[in-house]
Amino acid sequence: MKNTQILLANRPEGMVKESDFDIVEQEIPALQHGQVLIKIHFISIDPAIRGWMNEGTTYISGIPLGGVIRTFSAGQVIESKHPNFAIGQFVEGMLGATSFAISDGTGLKVLDISKGSIPQHLGILGMPGMTAYFGLLERGKPQKGDTIFISGAAGVVGSTVGQIAKLKGCRVVGSAGGKVKCDYLRSIGFDEVIDYKNEDLDLELRRKCPTGISIYFDNVGGDTLDTALLHLARGARVVICGAMSQYNDMKKVCGPKNYMKLVTARAEMKGIIVFDFQNEYPKAVKDISTWLQEGKIQSKEHIIEGIQNFPQALIMLFEGKNFGKLLVGVH
Ligand SMILES: NC(=O)c1ccc[n+]([C@@H]2O[C@H](COP(=O)([O-])OP(=O)(O)OC[C@H]3O[C@@H](n4cnc5c(N)ncnc54)[C@H](OP(=O)(O)O)[C@@H]3O)[C@@H](O)[C@H]2O)c1
Repeated sequence: MKNTQILLANRPEGMVKESDFDIVEQEIPALQHGQVLIKIHFISIDPAIRGWMNEGTTYISGIPLGGVIRTFSAGQVIESKHPNFAIGQFVEGMLGATSFAISDGTGLKVLDISKGSIPQHLGILGMPGMTAYFGLLERGKPQKGDTIFISGAAGVVGSTVGQIAKLKGCRVVGSAGGKVKCDYLRSIGFDEVIDYKNEDLDLELRRKCPTGISIYFDNVGGDTLDTALLHLARGARVVICGAMSQYNDMKKVCGPKNYMKLVTARAEMKGIIVFDFQNEYPKAVKDISTWLQEGKIQSKEHIIEGIQNFPQALIMLFEGKNFGKLLVGVH
């Protein structure tokens, strides 16, 4: 039994490339007391991986050169010398881009498959879903009748934010690239959509948010953030969740030049790091899984089969070629 692993070959300059990765096959070492061996089934492709490939630290340290790419992954325990984990259990954690993982149990979570599939546990019931839930409820503080604008709306975070905001009585406006994604957003209940690749964002925000934006949930940053700021309603909350347009060149981040709008709108702008809410994840998982089971919200997953396709999958995320929560299936 060989272990296929994706390693960091180079620190990427600009857009991530296939040559930034090495794909290697390793022997699986014998299991030590206190360890579990996990057969990985799915690797989560998250935008944060691009930041972790840089040198230096963001909110957690960068991946060392030659190290296994850090990812959330999920699979099944196939051998256990750990008292808390049994063969056959499905588990999830920061297990890396690897086909087998050895864990000492730190950060390893047993999955309740009755609440959702493994891909859902890495998406809407996992870290991205938690980001949507706490980013919206704790930072956005939605009130009935608020107009929320969400960029990157067709992704796992954006589409979850939009659907929860609808449940909270908001009017939901989202932007995404292309007709197919925009049609999808309408189908899951978004009131208005903007195809930012083919429409003028400023003009469409004026039309579709006539009373202004009460909550801006920013997944994109850059020019999109700047344009959204111009449309803030009085007392608006701007949630800085991510900056897809900036991650590939963090040395030249394009800051908001329209920030003075925060003054005139008496608005606030605040970031979120999902890991700060870890202690409250169980409540969010309970709420989201209930809404899923009641058919009140939907999830969409996009699976690329084969661990050798990990580099292309990560590139797809930054080309907007994913449609739903992006995962690599491992066999
Ligand atoms: N703060 C936290 O704790 C935290 C945790 C998790 C995720 N996040 C952030 O949440 C955001 C969404 O993550 P996700 O997992 O849901 O990803 P996702 O939205 O499923 O995928 C990324 C999407 O971003 C869009 N995109 C890519 N490059 C872009 C560009 N240059 N300009 C505008 N849009 C671009 C693409 O959609 P289009 O086709 O529509 O362009 C792409 O499909 C990211 O910014 C991520 O970093 C933050």
